[in-house]
Amino acid sequence: MPHPLTASALPLPLVRRGKVREVYEVDNATLLLVASDRVSAFDVVLPNPIPRKGAVLTQISAYWFRELAAVVPSHFLTADADEIVARVPRLADHRADLVGRAMLCRRTTPLPIEWVIRGYLSGSAWAEYRQHGTLAGEPLPTGLVESAKLDPPVFSPATKADVGHDENITFARTRELVGADVADRLRAASLAVYAAGRDRAAERGLIIADTKFEFGRAADDALLLIDEVLTPDSSRFWPADRYAPGRGQPSFDKQPLRDYLAGLKASGQWDGNDPGPDLPPEVVHATSDRYVDAYRRITGRELSA
Ligand SMILES: Nc1ncnc2c1ncn2[C@@H]1O[C@H](COP(=O)(O)OP(=O)(O)O)[C@@H](O)[C@H]1O
Ligand SMILES: [Mg+2]
Repeated sequence: MPHPLTASALPLPLVRRGKVREVYEVDNATLLLVASDRVSAFDVVLPNPIPRKGAVLTQISAYWFRELAAVVPSHFLTADADEIVARVPRLADHRADLVGRAMLCRRTTPLPIEWVIRGYLSGSAWAEYRQHGTLAGEPLPTGLVESAKLDPPVFSPATKADVGHDENITFARTRELVGADVADRLRAASLAVYAAGRDRAAERGLIIADTKFEFGRAADDALLLIDEVLTPDSSRFWPADRYAPGRGQPSFDKQPLRDYLAGLKASGQWDGNDPGPDLPPEVVHATSDRYVDAYRRITGRELSA
């Protein structure tokens, strides 16, 4: 098993350090995305890495990019450490930091939109519906309960904020921001990717309640699906056999972590702000097990890295 990694430090120019991943420049047309084992909950990054989490995220994305290649073109090149080293010889001495967690991608200019698809009414969508009876500004049928199935699924875009929280916007606003033609095409592509992923996950007893996609424009003008795809960090996965509308559903992967942190908050031992508290080993291990289980349930395979 690879060592847990809080942050990678590779001999390539760092383009961006996100909440979870480092983005490195390989050349004008190519990026290396490295998923660390950092975990965030309640918008705070916790101090302890979760073993294997980075590999789970990268390998689930790699699985979907391959599975969905016929549905939508993507930035995915390879997530195999040996292939990455063969293409980027400078990384030869850093193979251990790549295994499982690194993905070589086509470089794009990301569009400033989060392409969110909701198949169930949860989270901020449930909050909007309860308050206004709408989702992404459009009316929904009355009488829907929390976690109700939305049929057909609903496109509910948000702006990608560099700092602070993403802001939910309407489809009309999306068309203004990226152009009507691009908005229409990527809305359709997002719905198609969601539907294909949802059907595949259903065969394995998993509900994909909602998910967020990102798209970018490559140098040749192609619009590509980028970032991560249908992972536990970009989606809500619910075990189908425990689904019951009318209440919130248990989160598939971060539940042990959320329960622990909620307990600290309730007893006044943590105020909910940065820095987050040290996690006890049993919480770290339980969370790691959940992520590895998510990989197994989604792909039907054992995580090798
Ligand atoms: N092919 C790509 N081209 C350009 N940028 C990309 C590509 N794929 C992913 N990204 C960007 O890389 C970053 C991934 O790091 P992440 O930890 O997810 O950051 P964040 O905290 O913004 O979610 C995101 O900002 C995403 O937009
Ligand atoms: Mg991200």
